Amino acid sequence: MVVESSNRIEETARWVGVLDAIQSLAVVALEGGWIKPEVIPDYSIEIEEGKHPVVSSFNREFVPNSVKFDRDNFIHIITGPNMSGKSTFIRQVGLLVLLSHVGSFIPATSARIGVVDAIYTRIGSADYLSKGLSTFMVEMLEVANIINNATERSLIILDEVGRGTSTYDGISIAWSLCEKVSRDIKAKTLFSTHYHELTTLEEELDGVKNYTMYVLEEKESIRFMYRVLEGKADKSYGIHVAKLVGIPEDVILRAQEILVKFESEKDIKKGLDDYSIFEEMIFPDLKENYDIMKKLEEIDIANTTPLQALNILNELKSGIKCKKNLDI
Ligand SMILES: Nc1ncnc2c1ncn2[C@@H]1O[C@H](COP(=O)(O)OP(=O)(O)OP(=O)(O)O)[C@@H](O)[C@H]1O
Ligand SMILES: [Mg+2]
Repeated sequence: MVVESSNRIEETARWVGVLDAIQSLAVVALEGGWIKPEVIPDYSIEIEEGKHPVVSSFNREFVPNSVKFDRDNFIHIITGPNMSGKSTFIRQVGLLVLLSHVGSFIPATSARIGVVDAIYTRIGSADYLSKGLSTFMVEMLEVANIINNATERSLIILDEVGRGTSTYDGISIAWSLCEKVSRDIKAKTLFSTHYHELTTLEEELDGVKNYTMYVLEEKESIRFMYRVLEGKADKSYGIHVAKLVGIPEDVILRAQEILVKFESEKDIKKGLDDYSIFEEMIFPDLKENYDIMKKLEEIDIANTTPLQALNILNELKSGIKCKKNLDI
């Protein structure tokens, strides 16, 4: 008898499921004070004071954020320290746009949502090691799918794309991806990243704008404010976060030492970019010639007489350990 009615039972179960989903959306909308988004046939998307529907349901202190995409401002590069709320924010925007499209209310104060043809995400929670794919390969497969299918009407959400490989490979892939979206695809895109280099794209590409998660730097630590602001982050504070979660003191202290060293070498490299003839000669032995490079960086050429310059050269040459011959 049950077998005879199986079609009816299945059909009824399906509709009960639909009813359950719709009434659940109604309940959370009522309980959370959600608003009705305006879904419009436009390119732009504008959400005022939106919240992540799940995280805000168990975090009473959840900080709302706004987002605005239009034709002049459609790629948002979001930098900010670890734990500052980047992933939460970009997923929140994806979820609010999705909820608006299925006819739900959303947690925000107001919203005008241009219809999208798809929401593409590269978020990186699942790996497929058991299927014989490496972490980076999965990342690239998903990115390939996005580039090949996204249109001007899509929403793309990229969480730290490129981090699965070496820093320079990662930056280059992320960079060229942004160029492709800016030039050809023109999809509305949220891109969270720790590659601060990408923030220079704001000046170079159409449609790119930088945003950062606001943090307050305190004496020994940082305070997360979870506010999205225009602009870019200057540091990652990764070591602060490592300390917060209990990585042993000796590992933290050593990491700080190494960071200081890396940063000073980076500054020297930056200073030396102005002295490109020296660069090739000096860089093979970067570490050994640390002091010499520091001196070079400090030279104020505009206020150096020819005689002083010769003396400095002499001094540098006598101290240099570079393997190349510096017969100037
Ligand atoms: N708007 C917000 N208001 C309050 N708390 C938040 C908010 N956004 C995020 N958080 C809290 O901060 C935690 C970290 O957020 P998230 O994972 O988004 O940071 P992240 O910047 O992506 O960090 P990482 O760079 O390490 O990936 C979340 O688990 C959440 O508890
Ligand atoms: Mg994140």
